[in-house]
Amino acid sequence: MRFQLKLVEGVPLSEIIALYWQEIKNFQARPGDVLIATYPKSGTTWIQEIVEMICHNGDLEKCQHAPIYERIPFIELLQCMPPDAETVNAMPSPRYLKTHLPYQLVPPSFWKHNCKVIYLARNARDAATSYYYFDHMAKIHPEPGSWDQYLQRFMNGNVGWGSWYDHVKGFWEEKDKHDMLYLFYEDIKQNSISEIQKVMWFLGKDLPDATLEKIAHCTSFSQMKNNAMANYSTFPKEMMDQSQYTFMRKGQVGDWKNLFTVSQNELFEEDYRKKMSKTTLKFQVSIEDMS
Ligand code: A3P
Repeated sequence: MRFQLKLVEGVPLSEIIALYWQEIKNFQARPGDVLIATYPKSGTTWIQEIVEMICHNGDLEKCQHAPIYERIPFIELLQCMPPDAETVNAMPSPRYLKTHLPYQLVPPSFWKHNCKVIYLARNARDAATSYYYFDHMAKIHPEPGSWDQYLQRFMNGNVGWGSWYDHVKGFWEEKDKHDMLYLFYEDIKQNSISEIQKVMWFLGKDLPDATLEKIAHCTSFSQMKNNAMANYSTFPKEMMDQSQYTFMRKGQVGDWKNLFTVSQNELFEEDYRKKMSKTTLKFQVSIEDMS
């Protein structure tokens, strides 16, 4: 059983999210809440675990009391999976919360209370690649179909949570109006300690270098892949079937090169240039080059 996509204020969202849209939009953020916002498959779980470890001063055991999706609840899914809205309401402040909503759909209470926002962006090609494999597993979305069809849908913004292009630009253009830290997956991959330090400063913490090193180690791909509280192995199978692919898939920059054909890449690039022509936002598509 799979859910289809439904337009909500012009953005395609899983129909299970569309069904509860009014409740989601009316989510009551509190002063001090921290929102982790990402386009899907951009390293959300990674930054969630980094934030958790910073908050617990690098104590991994304290981060192990529950799976990551319970420790940092996903505000779009409170009506259909644990933790529910009541549990999230009862969480002590400051709460750390996750969303994939594009800027314009973020519940207004977050802006009203000037909540801190950590936005993590990942280059479009790797996000599309990761999303394609994810949509084989995730039942909240329709079947992905062939890669060629999927790539077209990604470029047209006809995938869950809509257009990657609008999402990354939306937060980028508004970041200076809010208390927002805008980060890149590729930067964390290359310079994990200095990026973790940025998050630490942003959250008002000051941890010694040895703790930062420990956090970088515990949140590396290989460690998180083997961490049951971070790797989604505890997630209900009816919602995510990991028999063919796993949530912690490769965790690399540039894996798109194994999926895109030369002609798909040319087409993608032409379209990318048009959609990204008016922004100052730049991404690394592999560790060596910039686009
Ligand atoms: P891949 O499918 O390319 O491997 P999200 O959490 O937003 O759904 O993103 C999932 C992607 O982030 C997957 O990408 C996953 O492997 C990757 N990821 C998760 N933890 C990571 C880590 N510690 N380091 C690098 N990548 C990680």
